[in-house]
Amino acid sequence: MTDTPRDNPTPIQICLFPVAGYGTRFLPATKAQPKEMLPIVTKPLIQYGVEEAVAAGMHTMAFVTGRNKRAIEDHFDITYELEDQISGTQKEIYLSSIRQLIDQCTFTYVRQTKMRGLGDAILTGEPLVGQQPFGVILADDLCHDDESVLLQMTRLYAQHQCCIVAVEEVRREDVCKYGIVSGQALPDGSIRIEQMVEKPAIDQAPSNLAMIGRYILTPDIFDILRETPPGNGGEIQLTDALKVLAARNKVIGFPFSGRRFDCGSVEGFVEATNFYFQHQTRG
Ligand code: UTP
Repeated sequence: MTDTPRDNPTPIQICLFPVAGYGTRFLPATKAQPKEMLPIVTKPLIQYGVEEAVAAGMHTMAFVTGRNKRAIEDHFDITYELEDQISGTQKEIYLSSIRQLIDQCTFTYVRQTKMRGLGDAILTGEPLVGQQPFGVILADDLCHDDESVLLQMTRLYAQHQCCIVAVEEVRREDVCKYGIVSGQALPDGSIRIEQMVEKPAIDQAPSNLAMIGRYILTPDIFDILRETPPGNGGEIQLTDALKVLAARNKVIGFPFSGRRFDCGSVEGFVEATNFYFQHQTRG
C-alpha cells in the first residue's frame, strides 16, 4: 500500500487488528511467531495493514493479541541497538517505512485469552475502542488497490452512518470458506445487506458475494456480540452479530474492486509474494 495519508472524512480514529489466531495453516512457520509477521517481500503482513489504516486517516492501532504475538509489539517499537548500528549507513532507508508508522501512530494491545472466534476477538477489543465507530483489518487478507480500501469504506460510512463490510465475488466452490451476503443494490454502487450466512454449503449460499477482512463497525456491535452464542465451529461469529444489525438495515456492503490475496492460505501467500515482488519498490 503506497497511499499517502489523506483527510479522514469521518471521525474514525481507531483501527482494530484481531491477531490472536493460531495460524495453523502455516505451521510450522507459525509455531513460535505470529502469522501476521510473515513477510510479503520485506514487510510483514501486519505492516501492510497498518499502512492501509494510516492511509484512511486512522492513527490509533489497537491489537487483539494472544500468546506468541510479542513480535508484533516489538515491530512497532524502536529497536535502539539495530538503529544505532545502521545509523548513517545506506541501510538506514530500510527502516524508514516502519519509523514513519511509529512516529504517526499510537499502538495499544489487549490479549484474547481463549481463541473463541473473530466475534470474541472483536469483543475483547472493546476496552481499546470504547463507544466510537472503528475500522477492522484482518491482516492476512492483503488488499491492493489504487487507494486504501479502508479509506474508501470511511467515505461510505460518512454517507450511511452504519456498519460497512467489504465484499467480493468468490468462486461458487469457495463460498463455504466465507461469510456470504446478499441484499439490495443501491444507486451509489453499494449494497444494503439483507441476508448473511457464515460458511454456507454451496446450495445454501444466498449468493457468491463474500465478506472479506475489512470492516467499519459501530460500537453497538459490542452489546450484540455479548449476547451472541457460539455458532459455526463453536466460535462466536462476527457474521451472527452483523446479522442482527442487517435486520435493522444497518449494514452496507462495499464491493471491493482491487486485488485481494488470502495470505492465510499458502497459495494466496505465494501469489501475493510474487505480485508485490513485481509491483513494489522496497519499503
Ligand atoms: P482465521 O481463522 O483466518 O485465522 O481468523 P487463524 O485461526 O489464525 O488461521 P488458521 O485457520 O488457524 O490457519 C481470521 C482472523 O481472525 C483472527 C485471526 O488472527 C485472523 O486474523 N482471530 C480468529 C482472532 O484474533 N481470534 C480468534 O479467536 C479467531
